[in-house]
Amino acid sequence: MTALDILASDTTGLRFPSGFRWGTATAAYQIEGAATEDGRTPSIWDTFSRTPGKVHNGDTGDIAADHYHRMPEDVALMRRLGVTDYRFSIAWPRVQQNGRGPAVEKGLDFYRRLVDELLNAGIRPVATLYHWDLPQELESAGGWPQRETAQRFAEYAGIMADALGDRVGTWTTLNEPWCAAFLGYGNGVHAPGRASHLDSLRAAHHFNLAHGWAVRALREVLPDTSEVSLTLNLHALRPLTPSADDLDAVRRIDAVGNRIFLDPVFHGRIPDDLIRDTAAITDWSFVRDGDLAVTSTPIDSLGINYYSPTVVAAGERESPSPSPSPWAGAERHVRFLPAPGPRTAMDWPVDADGLYELLTRLRDDLPGVPLLVTENGAAYHDYTNPSGRVHDPERVSYLHSHLSAVHRAIEAGTDVRGYFLWSLLDNFEWAYGYSKRFGIVHVDFASQRRTPKESADWYAQVIALNAVEGRQEG
Ligand code: FCB
Repeated sequence: MTALDILASDTTGLRFPSGFRWGTATAAYQIEGAATEDGRTPSIWDTFSRTPGKVHNGDTGDIAADHYHRMPEDVALMRRLGVTDYRFSIAWPRVQQNGRGPAVEKGLDFYRRLVDELLNAGIRPVATLYHWDLPQELESAGGWPQRETAQRFAEYAGIMADALGDRVGTWTTLNEPWCAAFLGYGNGVHAPGRASHLDSLRAAHHFNLAHGWAVRALREVLPDTSEVSLTLNLHALRPLTPSADDLDAVRRIDAVGNRIFLDPVFHGRIPDDLIRDTAAITDWSFVRDGDLAVTSTPIDSLGINYYSPTVVAAGERESPSPSPSPWAGAERHVRFLPAPGPRTAMDWPVDADGLYELLTRLRDDLPGVPLLVTENGAAYHDYTNPSGRVHDPERVSYLHSHLSAVHRAIEAGTDVRGYFLWSLLDNFEWAYGYSKRFGIVHVDFASQRRTPKESADWYAQVIALNAVEGRQEG
């Protein structure tokens, strides 16, 4: 018996179903760099990161983790980890200049090479079409608050299906449209940095429409065996107390944070309470006849990104915060409170029960829809020590508790098919620039040297065993 066999037969281990998909996740703007190479045109994140005061330290994705040039090395790292799947995103402005017109062959070539490299390494590619890098020219023409942007997106989806449809088995239309709509257009903390509640609601609807049209465009080209999906960052909500007022605060945030996407996509409707809560902002007349049939075009699975839970209570925000509230229609009725417990370098609470609560809620609300955890992970203040190691026991402990929660949800009858760790590499963490490290592989941005952290070794062992040890590591 090898050491692995002994561990595998350990009855205290939490064994995952056979065929469970073990992945890592990244996003184009956060790792690729090569911002002006091979015909790539600017995205809203290029513009936003160049706008003084928007991104920590004035950091940009110009070079990022230089993945565009180091892709084979990064795929080799994944092969050593033993991942079965890799979730990456495609940079729209790299494959269609300014978001319109013919495909850019050199841009497509990069993704063709990536997919070939993955397949040769025995890793299934999982492609996300939109991880926030809207071509700047489409934003200048009105961006996501305009319906036209959704049409452009469907056209781009068709281009990608033509280019990669024979080799990419899993497609995700959008990543976290909540962040893109409400942080991008609601409070302006993300690109393009606009702050208008009306625009954020219009953007949310146009994301749903873009998703539905893209699903149709993909299905026209893809083989029947392909999986088409959507990734949401659903909020795991908890009331501060069980009072009716605090429960109503949960209801409001659930409407504008979760059901604003779940209902159009899975039930073909806009929630009535959301329409009531936002009546002072809009009459929703931007939703046209037939739109909800498009948004609810059937999909094959739902991706969930989870980092920490959200605690809410009735009442107004207490202290004026530097940015406006992103919560259209809820800002004067809901207070957000810090969840107790240890925190990551993002100051996000570590609370794996929230992931269990979210997954089992979806088991009940969306029966028959397979789930994937498409992002989960944590940032800590990592550094390479004098012996060249990156000792990150807090990340191992975070991953251990969250994988245990996924396992618990599966035991409770939730159909979770896979887990994608965020992130493979340290990268450009949006408004935080390079100050937050989420990777299980450390990147020294000056030399671009990659050093797998101890958490990478730990994850490789989890994958090899298809199990998490029953005891807490770390
Ligand atoms: C998610 C994003 C991802 C990454 C993590 C930490 O909201 O999808 O790009 O930044 O947060």
